[in-house]
Amino acid sequence: MEWKDQTVGDTPIGAEAERAVRVLHGAKGRQLPRPPRQRVFTIANQKGGVGKTTTAVNVAAALALQGLKTLVIDLDPQGNASTALGIEHRPGTPSSYEVLIGEIPVKDALQQSAYSERLYCVPATIDLAGAEIELVSMVAREGRLRNALATLEEYDFDYVFIDCPPSLGLLTINALVATPEVLIPIQCEYYALEGVGQLLRNIEMVKSHLNPLLDVTTVVLTMYDGRTKLADQVADDVRSHFGAKVLRTVIPRSVKVSEAPGYGMTILEYDPGSRGAMSYLDASREIAERAHTTGKEPR
Ligand SMILES: Nc1ncnc2c1ncn2[C@@H]1O[C@H](COP(=O)(O)OP(=O)(O)OP(=O)(O)O)[C@@H](O)[C@H]1O
Ligand SMILES: [Mg+2]
Repeated sequence: MEWKDQTVGDTPIGAEAERAVRVLHGAKGRQLPRPPRQRVFTIANQKGGVGKTTTAVNVAAALALQGLKTLVIDLDPQGNASTALGIEHRPGTPSSYEVLIGEIPVKDALQQSAYSERLYCVPATIDLAGAEIELVSMVAREGRLRNALATLEEYDFDYVFIDCPPSLGLLTINALVATPEVLIPIQCEYYALEGVGQLLRNIEMVKSHLNPLLDVTTVVLTMYDGRTKLADQVADDVRSHFGAKVLRTVIPRSVKVSEAPGYGMTILEYDPGSRGAMSYLDASREIAERAHTTGKEPR
């Protein structure tokens, strides 16, 4: 058959476009219920490049698409979450740094994403690189972010995600002190669990001394490659260790997911019909479904 005889849906690009429309339409039509109270997550894993930022921005975008008001706080001097959301974060932009040190209220650093009126970001600028050291000499250095975010509940966000840098330093500790929930992304690769023990010990320490409400509620398996046996072994290990905390949805390794931030877009905007987009939509729904079992008190 000659190409000019084909209808749009018969071509690969046409089929992809149709799938994208179906996915987006379906997601928009499926409004998720608001959680009983605002849910605030630290996204942490001191191992670098495991999908913390990708998970933060794509889960946030997926929740926003389905009707929930969502905020991503970029607490990594690399500013990757800000970049991925297409948010201004040049030096001098009001950012998580000024919020953390108490110079400005969080509302002065909020930016709305171009993607959705329900998706917001507090960006990170390079200024945050110095914070780890500056914090050392500050009073109540572990609780700075908690104090800064004390008024967050007034802003009516349903979900807040704090994207942490790949370290267990004072920035990550500040996030752990400020939030009740921890989400740990784990990459389906060899050595995936290496370091997780250390992370869990730190979480326990913060819980017993600084934040009794702290709990690892959610584990997400990322960059899953179904062609390798190893990926399944890692997934099984993680599930036997964390049980029901692990989302049933697994995020596949996909080039599209890694390309999206280069365009300042989430995968839901860059390629809504892709497996990556669908997996983040599924993950967001699972997280939202758990709201009623993990919420600490009613709103
Ligand atoms: N599902 C995926 N498929 C393919 N590539 C991915 C996937 N998820 C993330 N990546 C890519 O892997 C790299 C690391 O991901 P990401 O930046 O989300 O990790 P991170 O844990 O936030 O890293 P860091 O520790 O540096 O903050 C990025 O280039 C990202 O685009
Ligand atoms: Mg990151």
